[in-house]
Amino acid sequence: MAIELERDFVRKYTKGPDVFEFGCGNGLFAKELSSSYSVEAVDLFAPETTEGFKFTQSDVLDMNIDKKFNTVVAVSSLEHCGIETGQCDNPDYDCIARVSRVLSDMALDRIIITAPFGNKLLFTQKEGPDDVYENIASPEWGYRQLTHSKIMELFKDFTLVEHVTYMYIPQPNEGDFFNVDNWAAIDWEAHKETFDPGVLATVANHTKIGCYMLERNSQ
Ligand SMILES: C[S@@+](CC[C@H](N)C(=O)[O-])C[C@H]1O[C@@H](n2cnc3c(N)ncnc32)[C@H](O)[C@@H]1O
Repeated sequence: MAIELERDFVRKYTKGPDVFEFGCGNGLFAKELSSSYSVEAVDLFAPETTEGFKFTQSDVLDMNIDKKFNTVVAVSSLEHCGIETGQCDNPDYDCIARVSRVLSDMALDRIIITAPFGNKLLFTQKEGPDDVYENIASPEWGYRQLTHSKIMELFKDFTLVEHVTYMYIPQPNEGDFFNVDNWAAIDWEAHKETFDPGVLATVANHTKIGCYMLERNSQ
């Protein structure tokens, strides 16, 4: 599930008038974007709301959409490709590459992606969200991690113009996300309890989220 920092990144870089959201989930963010842009969205499942935007319930790979959009948005969706549709067991199918090609074809100017940062395939089962398995057969639910270079490989006709990576760091009460691209600006004094050497030693295991804004290369 996306965090507000991911949506803030999208809010900052979305360019209209036409916007497409891949994997709109409950539809609330598409509804919000529709107050400023003309929005179309797709998801495998029916959203809570379709107010203000045109929704198609489909696999994006089956859409045959000719229209182009100034910005294509994927908030916490690209990393799920192929899992809900049962194709993640077939490496030859390479669902994420297929979806990326479709999104590339739709985007006139920009693509904005947010996804877990890293280079592992992690799949979790529905019954136990805390049980993380790598490459289990036929997972019911799960996600991948993506690196900056994987994003650039998937969207070859685009240049990575802006990006930020947030890392979740637990704190005594509840944790928070920090911009790790701007590590030096973190208020260390305010978070000294968090940043003890023990916590820093396990930093590599903490959830990180990458946000990417790519612009189409000029022809
Ligand atoms: C983790 S949810 C994120 C939903 C929403 N963007 C949010 O931030 O809450 C990922 C969504 O991507 C959708 N999705 C995954 N693969 C898809 C595909 N091939 N075509 C359409 N939607 C897809 C799923 O149905 C799911 O609702």
